[in-house]
Amino acid sequence: MEVASRKINVEKSKTTKINDVDFDNLKFGSVYTDHMLVCDYKNGRWENPKITPYQPISLNPASKIFHYGQSIFEGMKAYKDANGEAWLFRPLDNHKRLNISARRLAIPEIPQEHFMEGLTALLNLEKDWIPTTPGSSLYIRPFIFASGEGFHASPADEYKFIICFAPSGPYFSGKVSVLIEEKYSRSANGGVGYAKAGGNYAGQFYPTQLAIEKGYNQVIWTDDNTHEYIEEAGAMNIFIRIGDTLLTGPTSDRILDGITRKSILELANVQGIKTEVRKISVSEVVEAAKSGTLKEMFGAGTAAVISPIATFGYQGTNYDLPELPDSYASQLKKSITDIQYNKSEDKFGWRHKV
Ligand code: PLP
Ligand code: COI
Repeated sequence: MEVASRKINVEKSKTTKINDVDFDNLKFGSVYTDHMLVCDYKNGRWENPKITPYQPISLNPASKIFHYGQSIFEGMKAYKDANGEAWLFRPLDNHKRLNISARRLAIPEIPQEHFMEGLTALLNLEKDWIPTTPGSSLYIRPFIFASGEGFHASPADEYKFIICFAPSGPYFSGKVSVLIEEKYSRSANGGVGYAKAGGNYAGQFYPTQLAIEKGYNQVIWTDDNTHEYIEEAGAMNIFIRIGDTLLTGPTSDRILDGITRKSILELANVQGIKTEVRKISVSEVVEAAKSGTLKEMFGAGTAAVISPIATFGYQGTNYDLPELPDSYASQLKKSITDIQYNKSEDKFGWRHKV
């Protein structure tokens, strides 16, 4: 990949919105910091990285993003420790996955230096925006979309890579209940399910709306072929504890390879929690719920961290999960967030100082 100068031009905002933000009552991803990073792909190379005041972008109506949906994104967080130092969690894994998504959507890959230098420069400028209220962090949204024009159904020749930040609180408020989906599918073999493509989320909104109308927060996707196996949720990978074993499905070209998921598997292994990565059938989970061996279900993701599931619905019946005092979810959430917020030793080398 040919790369022009990586020198980042910085245009600082003359005002700040930081004093208008209620840092004690942050929602997820709904207020944005003062600056953003923008880098253009033109003439076959990424060029002209710049930090500007946070502002709308102007696009030609014929830009291919509007017609053919060439758009991918990542989700990361920056955390502040008790000494005011800022940290990222496994950022190179996000960069790698962004490029995996890029390849699948015929979008030019972004070099690691562009990604990391742009992210670090923007974070250094916006450090004061990293919240310190417990459970809060600075949500980071890097994305790439087709800005190039034309109605011809083919990849664009111009793209924009942008990074924006949003100081954020928890993704879910209150107990999480999920509906195991029997009709719609999120992804299929050979499709784009493993990519963080914008269209993957658009396709989920309608079935999720139907689930919300029935009183659930999220859909649990099942395999598109038989709807008999549990895959993942709209924004999380899924873990299920039956007896003392923690189960999660294998990744595939239908499932997003979550960074939280793989971190939890490693943490569970060092903490002596037995794990199995294998196909999990819905009937097995329903049977375990009926017999009392189903102990926990939780979702895992950057935005959701570890979100325990209180109820799941399937074929018109709701199954409630017990509230365990020392659940795997609470143990693993503590371990992962202690590493993220620099409260514990990081034997894995996951923490990345900004
Ligand atoms: N699955 C989907 C569909 C997601 O959107 C996400 C969120 O990024 C995840 C799983 C969890 O991935 P990660 O832990 O890398 O955030
Ligand atoms: C994340 O966890 O970062 C995600 O990207 C989920 C998002 C769809 C809210």
